[in-house]
Amino acid sequence: MITGLLRGVALVAACLLLTSCAPAGGAPSPTATAAWGSERSVRNDPTQPVFLSWPVVPDAAALGEAVHADLLARESEFLADYVPNDLAPPELHATWVALVDAPGGVAGVRSEVYEFAGASGALTSESVYADRATGRVWRGSDLVAAGRAGEIARAVAASLRASGYEVPDAEAEDVGERLLADLTFTRAGELVVRVGEGELLAFSEGARDVAVPAATADPLLTDAGRRVREAFAAFAVEIPAETPPPDPDPDPSPTPTVPEPSVSGDRVDCARVACVALTFDDGPGQHTERLLDELASAQAPATFFLLGQNVVRHPRVVARMAAAGHEIGNHTWDHKQLTKLGVEAQRREIDRAATAIADAGARATVFRPPYGSHNATTDAVAGLPVVLWDVDTLDWKTRDTDATVKAALSGAKRGSIVLMHDIHEPTVAAVPRIVAGLRERGFTLVTVSELLGDPQAGKVYTRRS
Ligand code: NI
Repeated sequence: MITGLLRGVALVAACLLLTSCAPAGGAPSPTATAAWGSERSVRNDPTQPVFLSWPVVPDAAALGEAVHADLLARESEFLADYVPNDLAPPELHATWVALVDAPGGVAGVRSEVYEFAGASGALTSESVYADRATGRVWRGSDLVAAGRAGEIARAVAASLRASGYEVPDAEAEDVGERLLADLTFTRAGELVVRVGEGELLAFSEGARDVAVPAATADPLLTDAGRRVREAFAAFAVEIPAETPPPDPDPDPSPTPTVPEPSVSGDRVDCARVACVALTFDDGPGQHTERLLDELASAQAPATFFLLGQNVVRHPRVVARMAAAGHEIGNHTWDHKQLTKLGVEAQRREIDRAATAIADAGARATVFRPPYGSHNATTDAVAGLPVVLWDVDTLDWKTRDTDATVKAALSGAKRGSIVLMHDIHEPTVAAVPRIVAGLRERGFTLVTVSELLGDPQAGKVYTRRS
């Protein structure tokens, strides 16, 4: 969806792309946001899926809480406005990127929300800042003095006109406060206004970043606006370029840094033995290491379907997973519903996650599409066995340890693939009881590939038949 920003003609007068605005000097600290965490909640219902993620920022808890609160409001609206649909499921999908991280000062993020309703999708974004010094949270509209939005709009319109677009001033006035939803700054102090899809320009132009010269913007800023601008001058976070395409010949041997006791014993023949595979989706996250501890002490292997965007946050956890003998699965880069994407977009979602997993020193051997939604294109581009499940614990819905234990134990049969999510603490707490309960019933725990025997790329599996 970001590619919409990259569309369009080369422009001289206006600095329409954030990357092309990045001025030289003052090298960013690449580790500035290394300590930031990411939280997420997933409504794992393929007829009306929701994926929300928000940041956890050291010393600025209010920032993540503000973004989370906005997303919960969007989710309530979304669930009220649309009804579940099998053929064209409405989808809400939110991700975020770090914008600025001044030690002891201003931290900021851009929250991007994609909403699909029936025929077309819309991408909106919002910038949110928190000042660690005061605990205050600011939206874009807090950065510009009351009553001055029109002046920003006229400056944006002038900048677009200088680039060859026709934008009447009257139209700019109409946009008003909406133009202030997503405001950032260049290091040189220009105010960058993200003009949303369909605002001022045709919808087909996508979203646009338009820089307003510092001399024009400065008199319109509030104190908060000046604090944020100063933070960007020294502590802007470089937005990483797209992950490069995967190495055509990646080194398949993992190079773990931590010695890890293996959970996998001799290979089990599931044609003879009653096997069950436990699977964990959407991680790694903050509870995953504890889950690995539990699985190590129980000597139980599992299969993890990882999101690429989380792998890059927790590469050591992924290396540990692989070293312990757990199976790694690709669960796409950021959990979009693939059936709405074309072949190239589907391929990007899968390849980008594969690259992240390879960079962490592991290799994905199975694939699971988000929400279990896949089509012939998905199966073809996955390049791996497509693994669904036959036991859905609904742990994402109940968020309850007892309910998850009960669902797993009552649902599992010989050959079952059990779906859980290691991003939820009650699920991780349920795992020791699930492992013990399944073994009491005579099941042997194995990875998905062990369960299936010799699974084939492009074939779809829900259990061992
Ligand atoms: Ni998932």
